[in-house]
Amino acid sequence: MLLLALSAQSAAGQDAQPAFIGVVECARCHRSPTPLDQESGATDWAALTEFDTWYRHDKHSQAFKLLDSERGRQMGQILGIDVLHDAQCLSCHCNLLPHLPPLSELEQKQGVSCESCHGPGSDYEKPHRDPSWRRLPGSEKEKLGMVDVRDPRRRAKQCLSCHVGNAAEGKLLTHAMYAAGHPPLPGFEIETFAREMPPHWRPLADKPAFIRDDPRILEAIHEKPDEVHAARSVVMGGVMSLAESVRLLSEQAAAIEPGQWPDFAMFDCQMCHHELQSPSWRQRRLADDRPVPRPSQPRMRQWPTVLVELGIGHVHRGDDNARRQAREQLAELLAQFQQAFDGTAWGSPRAADHRLPAASGALLNWLEALAEQLDRAGYGRSDGRKLLAELCVLGDQPSLDYDAARELAWALEAIGSALPFGEAASADDWQRALAALDRALLLDLPATQQRSILDPRRQRAAYEAIGNYDPAEVRRRFGEAAKLLGAE
Ligand code: HEC
Ligand code: HEC
Ligand code: HEC
Ligand code: HEC
Ligand code: HEC
Repeated sequence: MLLLALSAQSAAGQDAQPAFIGVVECARCHRSPTPLDQESGATDWAALTEFDTWYRHDKHSQAFKLLDSERGRQMGQILGIDVLHDAQCLSCHCNLLPHLPPLSELEQKQGVSCESCHGPGSDYEKPHRDPSWRRLPGSEKEKLGMVDVRDPRRRAKQCLSCHVGNAAEGKLLTHAMYAAGHPPLPGFEIETFAREMPPHWRPLADKPAFIRDDPRILEAIHEKPDEVHAARSVVMGGVMSLAESVRLLSEQAAAIEPGQWPDFAMFDCQMCHHELQSPSWRQRRLADDRPVPRPSQPRMRQWPTVLVELGIGHVHRGDDNARRQAREQLAELLAQFQQAFDGTAWGSPRAADHRLPAASGALLNWLEALAEQLDRAGYGRSDGRKLLAELCVLGDQPSLDYDAARELAWALEAIGSALPFGEAASADDWQRALAALDRALLLDLPATQQRSILDPRRQRAAYEAIGNYDPAEVRRRFGEAAKLLGAE
């Protein structure tokens, strides 16, 4: 009877959501492997030391503690909220989702932890330890709550939910939070950010040959033999950055009172906060935009769009016509999306309410189709080199802003460092080209626990890089990198 009742209960609870179990649970096994783990072959797959990397080096494990820093407390005072308990902050600074029961306060203090990225563990905790789990397609893992972070597209979405924002998950950085002192979110390039975390996983190349050669594993983890995985990841991450930015902006717009503007933080800060000297490149670049915006007419940020161009080039390589058409389609869709916000002076918010759903829907569908094509595309070494050459061409444009140029330079570094050089450029020349871009754009991140985002020296360097940003100089640097690669 009891068994029957239990099984009826579990059938009824079939669409019950998986729940968080907390990092302490994960740490039981993911801290130091036992001899049994080695014998069973588990460590051929996962080192089982992931906890230590995260706890000792990864900034994510400090994300909650830093709410209680001087800056965090200052923000709380200005905003009049308790930053250690308010979901507005906890949503991105610890493990919290609006539709799941929250973890205990003690667990929340662990910051952005295993399940923030890998998904709530109650249902996969048991089955995932079995070596057969490795071969499961990502869609099966997702059914038990495990986020398929090995899929570059899914992974990007997961990271972007906090590094750009996600309205459905309650992860929203507002203009008021910026004004209260939140550091501005930098652009996000997935490979660069993953490398800087630092990674607690071993790349496929470092796993034993019987794993590297297993076609079912390769399929399950979205890799192909001999592919430059970083290239796939950069391009997919680029498409996802635009998709998630558009989704955030339109969901935000849908959630507010009719006739109100979405939060200022959703837009390009420099549309309103430009320098007072005139003429400046920030004012000049607007003249290249279509339609030409009036001062203080908000524009979407530019950085999430630049790697989509790279993706278009990759899908339509060798077919200039199709490529031009796709570029025009994207420009048109972006313009329609933008126009939903335009109008007189500030524009009419009612017009935005009215036009946004169709405009954002069309853009998101188009990006989804591009992502499908990119998913099927190949990423061999010669593709990797062509992508590098195209990045240099994209960098050699007149109207890139700082974050957009930085996005391209990060992508260049991420794909370039995954390729063996030889014929095209010597490794030294390549390093010199990257160093020149780094001097102009400050490419490194204050990631890991050894460095601080709010270190005054670091902040001065960051603001100087933005303040002194000279599009013409950065163009030259990309041009020099192009020559090294023998780009046409
Ligand atoms: C009782 C031990 C145990 C616990 C508890 C545990 N794991 Fe694991 N985990 C393992 C083992 C063993 C493997 C390697 C399985 C294999 O051989 O493929 C693994 C593999 C993984 C993988 C790689 C999966 C894949 O598809 O490649 C992830 C991610 C992971 N664990 C995350 C977690 C998270 C997050 C938690 C906490 C919610 C957790 N684990 C709790 C033992 C455990
Ligand atoms: C949309 C997600 C999101 C929300 C919401 C959010 N943050 Fe953040 N926060 C971040 C990210 C991402 C960073 C790292 C920024 C970077 O890379 O420079 C950060 C950095 C910070 C820092 C600097 C940490 C350091 O390393 O010194 C503080 C302090 C902070 N946030 C406080 C808050 C407070 C207080 C709130 C609520 C009022 C809040 N945040 C809401 C995502 C968020
Ligand atoms: C900020 C996001 C994030 C957090 C936090 C995080 N992970 Fe991961 N983890 C990832 C990503 C991304 C990958 C794999 C990417 C890939 O294979 O390309 C990964 C891979 C893994 C793997 C596979 C290892 C391998 O060698 O293939 C294990 C196991 C794992 N994580 C466990 C954990 C545990 C345990 C924690 C908490 C102590 C944790 N992760 C915290 C993002 C995260
Ligand atoms: C549509 C125009 C607009 C956009 C876009 C915009 N802001 Fe603002 N911002 C303003 C205005 C106007 C004020 C002054 C508000 C006030 O005093 O009430 C302001 C104030 C601020 C302040 C406080 C300055 C101070 O001295 O107190 C900060 C910081 C700030 N904005 C950051 C940002 C960031 C970061 C972004 C982009 C993510 C951004 N803003 C986007 C219009 C904008
Ligand atoms: C639940 C929200 C959340 C998720 C998901 C998340 N992050 Fe973060 N990330 C943060 C916060 C908050 C910070 C700032 C932490 C701090 O300063 O202590 C941060 C900081 C970072 C930093 C350091 C940033 C800097 O400016 O130096 C890197 C790198 C990073 N994250 C990479 C990633 C990657 C890669 C992923 C996906 C695999 C990811 N994050 C997923 C919230 C998140």
